[in-house]
Amino acid sequence: MSDSLAIETHDLTRAFGPRVAVDRLELRVPRGMVYGFLGPNGAGKTTTIRLLLGLLRPSAGRVVIHGEPLTEKAARRLKSRRSAG
Ligand SMILES: Nc1ncnc2c1ncn2[C@@H]1O[C@H](COP(=O)(O)OP(=O)(O)OP(=O)(O)O)[C@@H](O)[C@H]1O
Ligand SMILES: [Mg+2]
Repeated sequence: MSDSLAIETHDLTRAFGPRVAVDRLELRVPRGMVYGFLGPNGAGKTTTIRLLLGLLRPSAGRVVIHGEPLTEKAARRLKSRRSAG
């Protein structure tokens, strides 16, 4: 973990049944960086973003935001903010 990173994923994995949508992703986005997400249909872009927002639980691995693990509690907070608009 590093304070200079806005987003980190470690071994981030999400499967839907037998289909592995995100496979051991190691993402590092420095603070202040504009980061683009490119990939073919079905590459796992939306699934990754849902994992980063805590809208989906990883099958394995973890997400770190501003040096802090994205816990269940933080994910619930993001979810309730989202539904509050
Ligand atoms: N809720 C779900 N249930 C089952 N499979 C899913 C679900 N969500 C995504 N998938 C599968 O996971 C894989 C990744 O999908 P995802 O939507 O993350 O891709 P994407 O990169 O956002 O694609 P696109 O460019 O079409 O938006 C695909 O094979 C998709 O069919
Ligand atoms: Mg998508």
